[in-house]
Amino acid sequence: MTTPSTIRLYEVGPRDGLQNEPKMVPAEVKVKLIERLAAAGLTKIEATSFVSPKWVPQMADAAQVMTEITRKTGVDYPVLTPNLKGLEAALETGVTEIAIFGAASESFSQKNINCSIAESLERFKPVMDRASQENIAVRGYVSCVLGCPYEGKIDPGVVADVAFKMLDMGCYEISLGDTIGGGTPKDIRDMLNIVMEQAPVEKLALHCHDTYGQALANILAGLEMGISVIDSSVAGLGGCPYAAGASGNVATEDVLYMLNGLGIETGVDLDKIIDAAWYISDFLGRVPASKVAVALHNNKGSR
Ligand code: HMG
Ligand code: MG
Repeated sequence: MTTPSTIRLYEVGPRDGLQNEPKMVPAEVKVKLIERLAAAGLTKIEATSFVSPKWVPQMADAAQVMTEITRKTGVDYPVLTPNLKGLEAALETGVTEIAIFGAASESFSQKNINCSIAESLERFKPVMDRASQENIAVRGYVSCVLGCPYEGKIDPGVVADVAFKMLDMGCYEISLGDTIGGGTPKDIRDMLNIVMEQAPVEKLALHCHDTYGQALANILAGLEMGISVIDSSVAGLGGCPYAAGASGNVATEDVLYMLNGLGIETGVDLDKIIDAAWYISDFLGRVPASKVAVALHNNKGSR
């Protein structure tokens, strides 16, 4: 399999990136961040989550964020919806794309969405039906594809089974999440080899957290197997409230720098992503977790 010549970056910073931030980020700052990311050329920006505010307080302003974004033509602003209640609230804000999220680990499923894997798949069915009625595209996530914070190693056969079932119920794409960022390129290859027996590679995305510094290597391994959609988070923001110790997603600017070096097209402007990374990091009172954001900042002087 050859590496694709064009890659679509799926930005998760405003959602995955911010959901675990202890400091409340005002909706106005989230909206400005999302608009900067769109101006940089990203075409998929996961904006927020319509989840229980008791479970994830940082996403309690989901409706406000969605209604205040000035939407750019050609850009989708998907949101997480774990159930019908979330979808109905999202529909009121004019969403055009949603994401449902399951897992390949029973324990993580219980901790994250309070139900078993089988129950989650049942819960997704009415969400899929309602989304289909409204012509809303649905992306699916499978978490813990390379390991679980509670169970350790995960059987790639279970990943393949959950991914297949979510595609079969109508998801247009499945994002495979290394939620705790513990995998290495060999794990990625072994897992993809099994999953690709059940799901076409064109319908798979990789979602790598960078806890152990393996994300770029893992992504490269995925690209070499034909993966053409990569999830990333500006400034390397992120973590999952139900995966203690997991750090941020791979930084958008780090992935972009690597793809630019490989001569792979993304349509995204690196300088504008760096500006967005410093915008949100300045607000949070720290430097970006991204090496590229720091290196280019140092090279260009104060922004
Ligand atoms: P539950 O407690 O079982 O739900 O939670 P419930 O139906 O029994 O409802 C309990 C309360 O929540 C009720 O309110 C509902 O109205 C409310 P109360 O009567 O107590 O006042 N509720 C809601 N409120 C707003 N929006 C909703 C909603 N649903 C119920 N949609 C539930 C089940 C799924 C809701 C909960 O577990 C939840 O919200 N979980 C979300 C957890 C989450 O967002 N995790 C992070 C995202 S996943 C992730 O980061 C991984 C990923 O990045 C990939 C990777 O890295 O692997 C995607
Ligand atoms: Mg994640």
